[in-house]
Amino acid sequence: MSKKVKSLLLKKNKNKIVSLTAYSKNIAKILDKYCDIVLVGDSMANVLYGMKNTHTINLDNIIQHGISVSSAINKSLLVIDMPKGTYNNSSQARKNAKLIIKKTKCDAVKIESNNKNYQIIKELVKNNIPVMGHIGFTPQFKKKFRVEGKKNNEAKKLINEAKLIEQAGAFGIVLECITPSTAKAITKSVKIVTIGIGSSSYCDGQILVTDDILGLSGFYPKFVKRYANLNSIIEKAVKKYSKDIKTNTFPNKTNFLYGR
Ligand code: KIV
Repeated sequence: MSKKVKSLLLKKNKNKIVSLTAYSKNIAKILDKYCDIVLVGDSMANVLYGMKNTHTINLDNIIQHGISVSSAINKSLLVIDMPKGTYNNSSQARKNAKLIIKKTKCDAVKIESNNKNYQIIKELVKNNIPVMGHIGFTPQFKKKFRVEGKKNNEAKKLINEAKLIEQAGAFGIVLECITPSTAKAITKSVKIVTIGIGSSSYCDGQILVTDDILGLSGFYPKFVKRYANLNSIIEKAVKKYSKDIKTNTFPNKTNFLYGR
């Protein structure tokens, strides 16, 4: 087990784990100072590329962004999402995970659970590839958004899914949009770390999409807290730039590269 994964696991029941997404080096450089985990998420499909779901992000896309993010990461654990269709069976998953790691030098990959792909996690872990699972609302496999774990039988199913992911060898699991009581029960039931998104404070850590907390994406569901309004900051700057050009106040002599 790598040092970074080991120290992450030591945080369970002691320190909360801080995670955010990044798709490029400038953001990653800032995140690296404060985050335990930086995720190159396939949420880039909606957030960056304006696609209607995460299904069309491919291996090349995730690797390109992974290379950019990786260039700015020193201390955080860098996790990269395996895109939909790149881990349909064990040998395909092994080949693609190895390629992601070789090209990006990331620390781990994340795969969404479909309640059946535990063997794939086992295969990756057997090949020394650290894996994060992802349960609850899994956008690669579920069309309709809903909060999971409300009913007893659903809660039991999610707890069992988390245990099977742990047994398969994953070091952590993202819990997406799971009820507080079920997230709490899952977190108590496993020794690996649980990272919540829309799943209450009963998880070992939290993850959000960086563009959402910065007020860039325009996506603000209840589980997102907005810490800045970059949309309005950027708009003000662009408006000023536009005015400066139209009034010929930029460039001025201080911006000239040569005296005349
Ligand atoms: O793709 C992503 O950004 C994610 C997080 C929302 C957990 O999977």
